[in-house]
Amino acid sequence: MLIWPINEEAKNRALKLLEQGEVVALPTETVYGLGARASCQQAIKKIYKIKGRPSFNPLIAHVGSVDMADQYAKIDSLSELLIENFWPGPLTLVLEYKHAKPIHTLARAGLDTIALRYPVGVIKDLSLALDEAIVAPSANRSGFLSPTTAAAVSDDIGSKLPLILDGGASKVGVESTIIKVVNNELFLLRAGGLAPELIEAVTGKKLNSMQLAAAIEAPGMLASHYSPESALIINAESVNEGNLLLCFGKTRITGANKAKFSLNLSPSGNLEEAASNLFNYLHILDNLAEGGLIMVEPIPRYGLGLAINDRLLRAAAPKI
Ligand code: TXA
Ligand code: MG
Repeated sequence: MLIWPINEEAKNRALKLLEQGEVVALPTETVYGLGARASCQQAIKKIYKIKGRPSFNPLIAHVGSVDMADQYAKIDSLSELLIENFWPGPLTLVLEYKHAKPIHTLARAGLDTIALRYPVGVIKDLSLALDEAIVAPSANRSGFLSPTTAAAVSDDIGSKLPLILDGGASKVGVESTIIKVVNNELFLLRAGGLAPELIEAVTGKKLNSMQLAAAIEAPGMLASHYSPESALIINAESVNEGNLLLCFGKTRITGANKAKFSLNLSPSGNLEEAASNLFNYLHILDNLAEGGLIMVEPIPRYGLGLAINDRLLRAAAPKI
């Protein structure tokens, strides 16, 4: 396995590997992804195997342009409005698949819809060079924390990969927001790196409930997704001797000075900063925990706070 900082040579190597039916770990602005050519059955099989991901859970296809998205999917007018405002960026749209340009059925888990995203960064360049989408789930074992650095990918699944492109720490730090439009109404399938308030402001529409839609549409959203190895207590009110502490903002919960080790997601209380630190800090505390509990201070439930609370809730759920 190789970790390469992004330069022309590294990009060419990634391109070769993808052409040959290999998988490559790639940075995006949200989290690192495990990429394969969308039409390549052999490589898509490798993704599911490396992640230990159930085959009924479809992948997101990353396109290099809006034109390319058009070739893959029927784009309704509300989705088009979101595309105009938020692509490239941390927004995934579930759309009707056209069957004209191939995304292998394994990557779609046999569905007639496709989750499309136009990301920022090297994955977009590679998609343009290949003239096809790159399917990529987050580059972690299924059910574990999403990686926001090349080192986190390497720790988790590095031994199974030929190449990790190192683009530094992911800026956004949580996965993309997933939206599906049904009958001109918006459904939030996964809270993520694009704040719901921005989507509502641009469209003038309310987002429909996540739970209902998520249960039906995003089978991958199992309760215990995103688990660290250690036990986690969210909305913690106090800290005991030997606990670890994940803080947010200026004020500390009772007993905070008893924590064995603590990190602050954002000392100034900025939710964007907190999102970008979330998975990395959970990784660090998890490695230091040695059986200790990780206490998490309350995080506000608006803006990117919704995605942060969603990931923390899943991380705190018992493993299944
Ligand atoms: O930010 C992200 O979205 C990252 C980066 C790498 O792009 N990717 C990511 O992929 O988080 P993954 O595989 O970890 O999560 C994709 C989610 C899963 O919950 C899956 O069930 C859902 O997208 N999904 C994929 N295709 C779908 C479809 N046709 N309908 C509904 N949900 C779909
Ligand atoms: Mg994932």
